[in-house]
Amino acid sequence: MNNYIKQISFNSVVPPSTASHLLAFRQLKSYILHKGMKNHIKFYMNLYGTNTPDPQIITQILGQSINIAAFSSYVWNMPKLIEICNSIKKEKPEILIVLGGPYASFMADTLISNSGIDLIIKGSGEETFYRVVKKIAEDSQNWYDIPNVVYKEGSKIITTPIHYDFDVSKQLYDLCVEDGDSSYFWYETSRGCPFKCRYCSWNSEQKRQIKYYPYEKIEKDLKAIFNLKYVKHLEFCDSDIFLKKNHGIQILQYIHQFNEERRKRNWPEINIYFETNPEFIDEEAIHEISKLPVGQTTISCGLQTINEHVNNYHLNRNFHKDKYIHNLKRLCEGVKQNVSIEIIYGLPGDTYESFKQTVNFLVSEIKFKRFVSAHFLVLPGSYFWDHYEDFNLIFSKKSPHRLISSNTFSEEEISKAKRLTFFMYLFNTILFGIKRAVTRQAKSDYMTVYDKIINHIELNYPQFISELYCFYEKNEDIETILKLLQYTANKNLINLRYDIINEARQIIKNYLLKQETTI
Ligand SMILES: C[S@@+](CC[C@H](N)C(=O)[O-])C[C@H]1O[C@@H](n2cnc3c(N)ncnc32)[C@H](O)[C@@H]1O
Ligand code: SF4
Repeated sequence: MNNYIKQISFNSVVPPSTASHLLAFRQLKSYILHKGMKNHIKFYMNLYGTNTPDPQIITQILGQSINIAAFSSYVWNMPKLIEICNSIKKEKPEILIVLGGPYASFMADTLISNSGIDLIIKGSGEETFYRVVKKIAEDSQNWYDIPNVVYKEGSKIITTPIHYDFDVSKQLYDLCVEDGDSSYFWYETSRGCPFKCRYCSWNSEQKRQIKYYPYEKIEKDLKAIFNLKYVKHLEFCDSDIFLKKNHGIQILQYIHQFNEERRKRNWPEINIYFETNPEFIDEEAIHEISKLPVGQTTISCGLQTINEHVNNYHLNRNFHKDKYIHNLKRLCEGVKQNVSIEIIYGLPGDTYESFKQTVNFLVSEIKFKRFVSAHFLVLPGSYFWDHYEDFNLIFSKKSPHRLISSNTFSEEEISKAKRLTFFMYLFNTILFGIKRAVTRQAKSDYMTVYDKIINHIELNYPQFISELYCFYEKNEDIETILKLLQYTANKNLINLRYDIINEARQIIKNYLLKQETTI
């Protein structure tokens, strides 16, 4: 191996609300250092928002004298990455452009054939990327003996054999926690998922297994993260930390212990974000969750749809409606932290009516603090991607592959579901007074009342609605924007909100009066 130093830039392009280096790059860097390459490699960690202009990103990357520019691809940062990779290749063809991440794993041939990307790594990248870096350090670009890569040789695209032998359960080296001063940090205590939900592409190339890191390592890593004063949010990227209940409890106990140490130092506690299926949690788990910081800690629960048949039959979820609802209610009642419910509109098998029933269930039965209603994406690597014809799925060819229509959702119904989602976000943030009034008074006709209020607002406040809807359409972070507006000092906006809320209260009153007289 040559002694002189090679330079790598890791380029995280992430949503601005979660601005932090991707966990993937910390993992890769930690592994390369663990393999003894400390004296051969210099790393740059570049952090960009998905809203950072491309020229700014390109200029910064080109300004570093690097040998490798590495990117991690997801549905939400493509095709921005393609543009950046193409520009870098054009300006400095000698830089090796490497792409990893879930999107690249499933779209390797398409991505590499028409772009400036030189090499794509499929699946878990640690060992593969280390071998690539080793070759570069030896001034070689022969990739044929490295498994799990796709590369170009003249006009040919070569894919080397796939060996998924990277086992996180045996990794004991520490995670590099330095780099940057972002208040947001991502971490994982396990990798993979044993389930096969048809809309999801989570590690599907790895035979749907889950492997856990050793506790010895998790405890050390978490301690190091909690020792960074500037970290305020820690997001767990595990598919479900409570898949094994005792695992989830152990992780939360580490967090309680390290947050206690922060309190003693007069440092702010770290807020936690994780995913869990309510069916996996019980009173003991709820008790541990309730001890987490109350600030912005968020427990996300994927419901997708309240329709049991769609969940089990079309989506291949193992959904027990009664147990799910019972546990979700217990969670919402038992903790002061944010419980966020995730649903999807446009799911195969689901209809606009059953989407409305899902929304109705949330607003009428669940005391949730947040909810996310996502447009169905036909994700590369998912069952629906492979079987789109069976469900008549028409979707955008461009990432993130949003559904346009299907045999149960027309294009018009998708627009209606999107519009309803937008209004529900408004009722959960800047027009919260309306949600409170409907919940208190509407008894059971929640959606009928909401429909009336939505029609009224659309008719009487078209400018206000169209401006906000424009943000939403552009796919900006609508929740952040609405939260900012919620605490606005702008008198006009405050008055406008009061007017809308008061008029909505009147609509509810009139509706109830009419009901009574009909009876
Ligand atoms: C990454 S998933 C993990 C969820 C968790 N393991 C579970 O089973 O609910 C997080 C959320 O992303 C959303 N999601 C996943 N696949 C999606 C797709 N194809 N289209 C839209 N949203 C999707 C779902 O609402 C899901 O709850
Ligand atoms: S949705 Fe969740 S449970 Fe289902 S496969 Fe994806 S990660 Fe696993």
